[in-house]
Amino acid sequence: VIVGSDSHNPKNLCDEAFLKANEYARSLGLEIVDSLSINMSKTKKRLLFICLGNICRSPAAEGVMKKMVADAGLAAGYEIDSAGIGDWHVGQLPDSRMRNCGARRGYNFNSRARQFDKTVDFDRFDNILVMDRNNYRAITSMAPDDEARDKVHMLTDYCVEHAGAEAVPDPYYGDEDGFAETWGDVSAVADALVRHYRGD
Ligand code: 4NP
Repeated sequence: VIVGSDSHNPKNLCDEAFLKANEYARSLGLEIVDSLSINMSKTKKRLLFICLGNICRSPAAEGVMKKMVADAGLAAGYEIDSAGIGDWHVGQLPDSRMRNCGARRGYNFNSRARQFDKTVDFDRFDNILVMDRNNYRAITSMAPDDEARDKVHMLTDYCVEHAGAEAVPDPYYGDEDGFAETWGDVSAVADALVRHYRGD
């Protein structure tokens, strides 16, 4: 019998799983003679999307990716977040143009902006996905070692449908069309990422 728990804390995970297993065994008139705990959080894919302000591109990528993995029934296998290089918009919802763009397509971009934190984010995430070369330079320059630096990738590296694209362009100072392009870019990449992690 395998019993799961969605706790991130290994001790809670073990305790919860054991209690559930015990309850189930008793309901069958059985007794648990041994148990094994596997920390599922270690096997999670932990993705952090990065852009300059964390109010346009990266929260859109976060929102699209979260919905795609949820729709595919894979949400428990992922930890997905986004952050900005700058701190100008910390605590704010995504830009209303980006939110409207998502809402028209059934996505709710509602994460609050935060700034990348080199003291925790290099450890917390396995794949740090940046939107352009400036983001790449800014994040890699904060990496404490090669292992951390190797976690940083251009989002466009996964962009099979936009082969040759150098960046997801910043739509902030542009018009509405730029936001639709951003949505197209991040949704294509999220789709490619889900396939990449599924091993398709
Ligand atoms: P993002 O766009 O990096 O896609 O969130 C920007 C948002 C705000 C600013 C720059 C880019 N800004 O300079 O405030």
